[in-house]
Amino acid sequence: MALKDVGNKVPIYKLKTTEEVMRYYDEWGEKDKYNRDMVEWNYTGPKETVEVIKKYLANKDALFFDAGCGTGLVGQQLKKFGYKNFHGADLSQKLLDTVPRNLYQKLFKIDLNKRIEFSDNLYDSVMCVGTFTFGHVKSDALNEFIRITKPGGLICFTINEGIYKDYGFDKKILDLKVNNKWSEIEFFKSDYIASKDVNAWLGLYKVK
Ligand SMILES: C[S@@+](CC[C@H](N)C(=O)[O-])C[C@H]1O[C@@H](n2cnc3c(N)ncnc32)[C@H](O)[C@@H]1O
Repeated sequence: MALKDVGNKVPIYKLKTTEEVMRYYDEWGEKDKYNRDMVEWNYTGPKETVEVIKKYLANKDALFFDAGCGTGLVGQQLKKFGYKNFHGADLSQKLLDTVPRNLYQKLFKIDLNKRIEFSDNLYDSVMCVGTFTFGHVKSDALNEFIRITKPGGLICFTINEGIYKDYGFDKKILDLKVNNKWSEIEFFKSDYIASKDVNAWLGLYKVK
């Protein structure tokens, strides 16, 4: 699969280490540049994922974990449909600082490639949008998302099409299905950043 991605000054696929990724987003968050770029590129990840999850999650009091929340674009979309209970986590403190006040009840600066220090079965839903991409969060994080989600809860994510096979997401998703950890509700190729010819797989899975 060709290396297709966009970014701030250099494409995201050039980032190698977690430290590089953190610095990259810290800089991208300055002067609201990340948010301005997402509007200019017509980035549809948050809108597309929320449109999917709202079809299956009627409870507006549901507690969400937004994994890789960045500037809070997913929380903003969820709020439009009446959801109100969000926790968010991200590697970049600069981006976390730009999340609109009072949108999320809790924000955590954590590395999602490590064990998430939360108890089991905490959330009704995990959203992970734009964060499964080159050099970012690896497929093993899905084990942690399942662990912190309640049985019957929903996990909704995007995976940049360029890493889906190369980073083993195809095998991981299948493995979790075969081992009865989750069941598939929706899985399709979404627009994501279609204006830049970058698409993503969008999945919605129910935790067993
Ligand atoms: C493309 S942005 C998406 C942000 C937001 N979800 C959105 O849709 O606008 C990717 C996010 O993943 C975060 N990220 C990258 N690697 C991470 C890691 N190892 N742990 C936690 N967050 C990470 C970045 O800081 C960035 O905010």
